[in-house]
Amino acid sequence: MTIPLGDTTFSATVAQMRAMRDEFQRFLLEYQFGLREVETKIDILRDEFLHMHDYNPIEHVSSRVKSPDSIAEKVARKGIDADFPSIRENITDVAGIRVTVSFVADAYRLFDLLTQQDDLTVRVVKDYIAEPKSNGYKSLHAIVEVPVFLSTGRVEVPVEVQFRTIAMDFWASLEHKIYYKFDRQVPNALLDSLKDAAETAAELDARMERLHKEVHAPQAEPRSHHI
Ligand code: GTP
Ligand code: MG
Repeated sequence: MTIPLGDTTFSATVAQMRAMRDEFQRFLLEYQFGLREVETKIDILRDEFLHMHDYNPIEHVSSRVKSPDSIAEKVARKGIDADFPSIRENITDVAGIRVTVSFVADAYRLFDLLTQQDDLTVRVVKDYIAEPKSNGYKSLHAIVEVPVFLSTGRVEVPVEVQFRTIAMDFWASLEHKIYYKFDRQVPNALLDSLKDAAETAAELDARMERLHKEVHAPQAEPRSHHI
């Protein structure tokens, strides 16, 4: 009996596709593990901070592994080779974690506490708080590499960590929606308004931080009322 050629080719293709899918899942798994390690570090810092200082500097933490679609889109946009070593080398935000804090000082404090840990390697730091982007975007970014221990040995996994205040986060999520709504071609008037809103957000951050410091300043001794 002869097996029709078409079927043979088809089953080979299915097997290849399955192998590719498995390889891709394995590739993403490493990033999930790296993310978990950094999430745990952030959780520990939060819990310890609360215990030691009776203060929680973290408002919110969110994390994600980039979707295959969005990896493919970035490969095309950056014009890099579409193989795993090339993606590993060139796309450093496959694993991403965003830490939303109460005040600007907390962003720097947490950044220092995380990046000083000696099992982490800091690859890149972009301080868009000290030097905001021209559109007004502010956040403190770091690409760190965290060791993950697999059955096959140790791998260093890059994780992008972003620290920002609630006001910066509010601004960034609206700007992101507008950017995509206008397909990256935002009208100038709207760009100006966004920049203006970023300045308002920064003023709010500064005011809130001043207020917070006032409330938490060491209390002055009550004055004695001698006549
Ligand atoms: P991407 O290729 O977009 O990831 O940027 P990059 O590799 O040049 O790195 P950068 O540190 O500038 O940005 C990393 C991430 O920060 C982005 O993926 C966004 O999540 C965020 N980000 C950077 N710039 C902006 C911005 O102008 N607006 C908003 N909403 N988010 C931004
Ligand atoms: Mg990104």
